Amino acid sequence: MDIKTIIRTIPDYPKKGIMFRDITTLWQDAGGFRHVIDQLVWPYAGVRIDKVAGIEARGFVLGGAIAHQLSVGFIPVRKKGKLPAAVISEEYDLEYGTDTVEIHEDAIKKGENILLVDDLIATGGTAAAAINLIRHAGGTVVGAAFVIDLPDIGGARRIGKMGVNVRTLCEFE
Ligand code: PRP
Ligand code: ADE
Repeated sequence: MDIKTIIRTIPDYPKKGIMFRDITTLWQDAGGFRHVIDQLVWPYAGVRIDKVAGIEARGFVLGGAIAHQLSVGFIPVRKKGKLPAAVISEEYDLEYGTDTVEIHEDAIKKGENILLVDDLIATGGTAAAAINLIRHAGGTVVGAAFVIDLPDIGGARRIGKMGVNVRTLCEFE
């Protein structure tokens, strides 16, 4: 299945010059949705995964489906101020300024194996911050799985240099 044909591109969103890769059109397609979940999961057969961590917001949809398929728990990696209990936080750089992601401080037990999931990797800043959070909490990131890679921006290489095994299913410029 060529999943690129069911991912919609919106030019100049959210600002001029950005080609926004919209995965909602893939989610609308039952076969496409099931295919990407299967493709993201199969390489981890035989790997001990204790929990899936999904990055807000589109990583919640993919990560929830993957956690269900693996029969493991799910951890939301949320933007600052959204989680109700005590959190650990990690700031990261955006194109302009900074942002912060958080997890609940009791979300991960020391030594747990975590699979990180999001829809897309661009600079890798969000994923790098999530990896740092998981490691600070005592978890091991056994993989980072994304549907879309923007290889010209280099995020997958950046995450690879952090010692994390990266899986992506398709590439856009
Ligand atoms: C997008 C995407 C990733 C992140 C990738 O989320 O879903 O989480 O950007 O960019 P990076 O690799 O350069 O860090 P976005 O910031 O649009 O947040 P949202 O899903 O909450 O709208
Ligand atoms: N996040 C960062 N760059 C993006 C893009 N081009 N499309 C969708 N989400 C993104």
